[in-house]
Amino acid sequence: MKTAVITGAGSGLGSELAYAFSKLDYKVYLLGRTRYKLEKISRNMKGKSFIYEVDIADPLSVAEVFREIYESHDNVDCLVNNAGVGIFKTLDDIDNREIDLLFDTNIKGAIYCTKEVLPDMQRRNNGDILNIISNSGKTAKAHEIIYSASKFGMRGFSEALTDLTKDTNIRVLAAYMGNMNTSLWREDEPEELKSYASPTDVTKIIMDHFLDRESIFSSDIEIDNQ
Ligand SMILES: NC(=O)c1ccc[n+]([C@@H]2O[C@H](COP(=O)([O-])OP(=O)(O)OC[C@H]3O[C@@H](n4cnc5c(N)ncnc54)[C@H](OP(=O)(O)O)[C@@H]3O)[C@@H](O)[C@H]2O)c1
Repeated sequence: MKTAVITGAGSGLGSELAYAFSKLDYKVYLLGRTRYKLEKISRNMKGKSFIYEVDIADPLSVAEVFREIYESHDNVDCLVNNAGVGIFKTLDDIDNREIDLLFDTNIKGAIYCTKEVLPDMQRRNNGDILNIISNSGKTAKAHEIIYSASKFGMRGFSEALTDLTKDTNIRVLAAYMGNMNTSLWREDEPEELKSYASPTDVTKIIMDHFLDRESIFSSDIEIDNQ
């Protein structure tokens, strides 16, 4: 049975990806900061799942969680770097604490998690790393300047990982999408939130690409919703 570790699995896209990997018969490790959200997702899954409460912005907690996963369970076949925060502000409005939170979660958290799984994937010459980025990592916007900068950072990290693993059986996949109807927007809920793409539909597209990659490899998934 293969294993997938999904960060930010307690809601939105992360929870939909968790269900999708479970349906593919993966054993799924659900990571996030809020236990009750992870428990709810786990209860709705038929296959095996495990919950780990962790703040990915804290490298020591990340190291501890992956130590537990490797000690008590098994290999990580797929890491999904999905957890993220959305603070959509101009440079004038955003404060230093919010800038740190965006970078600590959206880039550094994904880097910490990747550093925990990559050596083992390299030893086994096998594995998948799925990076959930955003169209904000392709086109930057002034009104979400630091969020865009964090996603551009994630894109750079993902592209460099693709280069690092190019002659191996480790696959790095970067997913870029527009707005989705999730709790990412809870701080400043836009009027048109309900018209945003459903994370279920976005998950279907991502998983189609994920499954195709054995024969046709493309490192990017670009979903052009608004
Ligand atoms: N929604 C959109 O419009 C949109 C568009 C493009 C890309 N994205 C990206 O899609 C990804 C998923 O977001 P979503 O839209 O599904 O929003 P979401 O429902 O808010 O999911 C984000 C998840 O990340 C977790 N999380 C946040 N900070 C964390 C931390 N420090 N450590 C561990 N977990 C953390 C949250 O759970 P806890 O708070 O319980 O930890 C939450 O479950 C993000 O990377 C986001 O940037 C979203």
